[in-house]
Amino acid sequence: MTSTISDKKLNVIPLSEPSITGNEWKYIKECLDTGWVSSVGSYVNRFEKMVAEYVGCKYGVAVVNGTSALHLSLLVCDVKSGDEVIVPTLTFVATANVVKYCGAEPLFIDCDQETLCLDVEKLKLFLDTECTQKSDGYTYNNASGRRIKAIVPVHIFGHPVEMDNLIELCQRYKIVVVEDATEGLGSEYKGKKTGSFGKLACLSFNGNKIITSGGGGMVVTNDGYLAEKVKHLSTQAKTDSIEYDHNEIGYNYRLTNIQAALGVAQMEGLDKIVEIKRKNAFWYQNLFSNINSIEFLWEKSWVKSNFWFYTIKVPSFHKKALIDYLLSSSIQVRPMWKPIHTLSMYKDCQAYRVESALNIYDTALNLPCSVGIKKEEMEFTVEKIRSYFSSRG
Ligand SMILES: Cc1ncc(COP(=O)(O)O)c(C=O)c1O
Repeated sequence: MTSTISDKKLNVIPLSEPSITGNEWKYIKECLDTGWVSSVGSYVNRFEKMVAEYVGCKYGVAVVNGTSALHLSLLVCDVKSGDEVIVPTLTFVATANVVKYCGAEPLFIDCDQETLCLDVEKLKLFLDTECTQKSDGYTYNNASGRRIKAIVPVHIFGHPVEMDNLIELCQRYKIVVVEDATEGLGSEYKGKKTGSFGKLACLSFNGNKIITSGGGGMVVTNDGYLAEKVKHLSTQAKTDSIEYDHNEIGYNYRLTNIQAALGVAQMEGLDKIVEIKRKNAFWYQNLFSNINSIEFLWEKSWVKSNFWFYTIKVPSFHKKALIDYLLSSSIQVRPMWKPIHTLSMYKDCQAYRVESALNIYDTALNLPCSVGIKKEEMEFTVEKIRSYFSSRG
């Protein structure tokens, strides 16, 4: 007998599955029934309003994915050839790729060992010692002579970046902050939602994110002019509702109504999802508390993480073998991203004193974290990890 999908689901503990338990079917059916399936429709507007309000911003512009949200955000901040943009080296590659899409150069900064987010202390050291603020008020990299126009802090796995210090630094050095909040929807830094700190912030609704619209993204901002500009660029920069008149090179980046309908239904359940994610984090933390070889990464006391992904650190010698062992036990885990400055296409870019990110790559991995994960599945996962280490002394 061949195995069915549900058989498979019984046997595999997935890394991150979406939770479809609300009005998803109803809202999508409404789009199909009414014919409003494409990039115009009430759900697009509703989704934008809902997400922007949730994050605490005035405007939201829905786009096809988080990558396009980042791309457009940098474009409207006038990031272009000859500029540099600071990004953490430990992040998903899209954060750096969008800098290249704009013709600019990424400049890589190390991560913090505990939060995995951009190390703001090291950023300060870099700006204080390796850059010059010229008479125009802007900051230039001494090594390249290029202006540092923007920075893209990423709330890694939902843990907020140290935003107060970062914003203070960037104001002083006149560097625009574009938050990559693609992993941070629902997280808070000192009581304020991530996504509300930057000039603009970018969200992702990819299938593995905390909520999904199938694929999708959004730019949120309090700046009405920039929001309009993002929308304009996302719709081929058309200037006339009838004539095909375009005033610049635009993109076909607008989200569809069907995807937005899914997104709206998911947004309705977001608070509950964050609550479950946090409860499961406590549960995992407790289960790992008496395994010596493991550190379960926790949140700082002044933040509230959405715990989108759960991370453990293990002795570097064991990382690869443990991942293989868990995968062969049908437990989906995944390694960290390779620090981006080590990837072939970025190896010639400047990376400032990167140490921790290399260590994190060598020691950390992500555990199954679906909203619907059962207690027994978390227990099974931790037991397997325990047995891996006990069989190896
Ligand atoms: C940190 C980070 N930045 C950007 C992206 C890009 O988002 P998307 O996959 O929706 O394009 C992702 C997610 O995939 C991400 O994790």
